[in-house]
Amino acid sequence: MNFSKISEQSLPGHVAVIMDGNGRWAKQRRLPRVEGHRRGVRAVNACTEAARRAGIRSLTLFAFSSENWKRPADEVSALMSLFVQVLRVQQPRLLKYDIRLRVAGDTSVFNPELRDLIAETEQATSGCRGMTLTICANYGGRWDIAQAVRRLLWEEPLAASHPEMIDEESIGRHLALDWAGDVDLLIRTGGESRLSNFLLWQSAYAELYFTPELWPDFTEKSFLAALRWYAGRERRFGLTSEQVASGALPSGRGF
Ligand code: FPP
Repeated sequence: MNFSKISEQSLPGHVAVIMDGNGRWAKQRRLPRVEGHRRGVRAVNACTEAARRAGIRSLTLFAFSSENWKRPADEVSALMSLFVQVLRVQQPRLLKYDIRLRVAGDTSVFNPELRDLIAETEQATSGCRGMTLTICANYGGRWDIAQAVRRLLWEEPLAASHPEMIDEESIGRHLALDWAGDVDLLIRTGGESRLSNFLLWQSAYAELYFTPELWPDFTEKSFLAALRWYAGRERRFGLTSEQVASGALPSGRGF
């Protein structure tokens, strides 16, 4: 696949993906929903490798939301097993492609096997610099903002009596994905046009790309199509088009 036509300045630094449509993909084929998730893992690999090849700095995938616990018990348990399997199988590939793995979300409720594996994979890949792959598991955007404020008050107790210390910058420093920064491009597959409580704070100025493709059908070509669409967007961050053209955006914002 040819990425050379997209200039480096028009690439998003942080791409986040809501991987939706596994269940419908399976239903269309009269397969159990779990089979859709299994096929979804292939798309996870394709998307990760495509992002790495394209030179994306940070890729964040929504694997399991805080709300997904309400799904049937066998589906929840299959998703957990897939998570274990992904971490086991992918560790050598992450190292090969120089990808650092991080997990964001309330992992305290996961079983010890999964928690150990997460810690081990994060540790094993901690020296990788090519790209950061963040898996959001038991994650919710509102949970993230609430935990950031709690952590801020815990680490900087003076803020309780000086509420002016609680601002966008200090909350931002305590968010679960403090290593990834704002989302530039948010992709959602499966034809729905909503954020579903994903990275609410970090997506304040994200370009939102919705595609009808179901997640198991998402390929390197699909990822490239999203990057091309993004490269054609004008990011204004509240300014006018004329201001952007005259270079008024603070550095690090826009192309
Ligand atoms: C949404 O599809 C998808 C999920 C809730 C899970 C995503 C999980 C994977 C792709 C596999 C595991 C991946 C990792 C990285 C551990 P849906 O079931 O809501 O689909 P539907 O809307 O068609 O029902």
